[in-house]
Amino acid sequence: MSMTKLFSPGPVMVKDNVRRALLHYDICHRSHEFEEMFVDTQAKILKLFNADDSYYSVIVSGSGTSANETVLSSLFQEGDKVLLIRNGVFGERLLEIITKYQIPLVDLSFPWATEPDMAVVEKALAENPDVKVVAMVFHETSTSMINPVHAVGELCKKYGKIFSVDCVSAAGGQHIDVVDNNIAICTSVGGKCVGAFPGSAYVCARKDLLESITAEQCKNVYLNLYKHYHTAVDSHQTPNTPNVNLFWPLNVALTNIIDETLDARIARYQRCAKIIRDGVKALGCRFLIDEDKAANTVTSVFLPAGIGAQDFIDEMEKRGYTFYIGKGDYGKQGMIQIANMGEIYEQDCRNMLEVFEVVLNKMKK
Ligand SMILES: Cc1ncc(COP(=O)(O)O)c(C=O)c1O
Repeated sequence: MSMTKLFSPGPVMVKDNVRRALLHYDICHRSHEFEEMFVDTQAKILKLFNADDSYYSVIVSGSGTSANETVLSSLFQEGDKVLLIRNGVFGERLLEIITKYQIPLVDLSFPWATEPDMAVVEKALAENPDVKVVAMVFHETSTSMINPVHAVGELCKKYGKIFSVDCVSAAGGQHIDVVDNNIAICTSVGGKCVGAFPGSAYVCARKDLLESITAEQCKNVYLNLYKHYHTAVDSHQTPNTPNVNLFWPLNVALTNIIDETLDARIARYQRCAKIIRDGVKALGCRFLIDEDKAANTVTSVFLPAGIGAQDFIDEMEKRGYTFYIGKGDYGKQGMIQIANMGEIYEQDCRNMLEVFEVVLNKMKK
């Protein structure tokens, strides 16, 4: 096996200083040294979301789903309802968590790759005054669609709802302003646009919301927001033994964003996505959704007719490039996903497109 360049939406290529941080000498998670690094990492997480000091972050050892499950298993008192707006695989993943915890639900399901209809959302809010939380995904990775978070946030403000947003594939890749978007709580993970390793998840939330959560209402022992929040506030630690070794790379990856600046990181991702999109379009591919609705970091693209998505992916893998196959039926319809998260630069995209063209031409014969 040879090393491939990951053009996949997580795991991602990491910078050398992030990889080297894995080799940090061993420390105990109950030491002051850990506490200092924990607090520093918390502060850097807040910057991803343009959060002011009315927000606080906690770090959860686990994948993005663990952060989402931490939130959804902790926010609700008996009888509180959630309104879920979904239009793809990761909206369905939120539904799976909501269903597992038996949270009363108003389920607003829109066809994949279509924008949620705001009139439908507003009607549902007006008709369901007992909804406590509105949940949705910022970047629906399965289609590349950026959802209308600002518009939903405005409705949450109007109807007095807690707005919970899955920012797993958006943080560090999209401009997110929790204050302006009225986001009360959101989640993400290091192993995507931030450029760290998988397994470093976190939650960013308004302090008043975190303060209002009781121990009793949290339904999971480990993925427990009450415990994570109070342990962080009281001792700058995590409730259980965390993946200490992954904290260092997360911290370094967040510092890398501060050094590059978040705006410059996002601009780089936009330039890379444009190169990829112009390139595959010129080669006869078409997109699942319009480019102006697509994320800065994932391109969902249908290969020219007759070319099997998995066969194409296998050929690219042999030549050093890793892509994702489209989720659900998309894969069968010849859709692949090309991501540009982490240590991917313009020249990497151009190099990838040269190989893309060679493979496409070979497979057309
Ligand atoms: C938007 C979104 N939410 C949740 C997840 C789940 O994250 P994980 O696979 O890290 O658990 C993903 C993974 O790609 C995602 O893109």
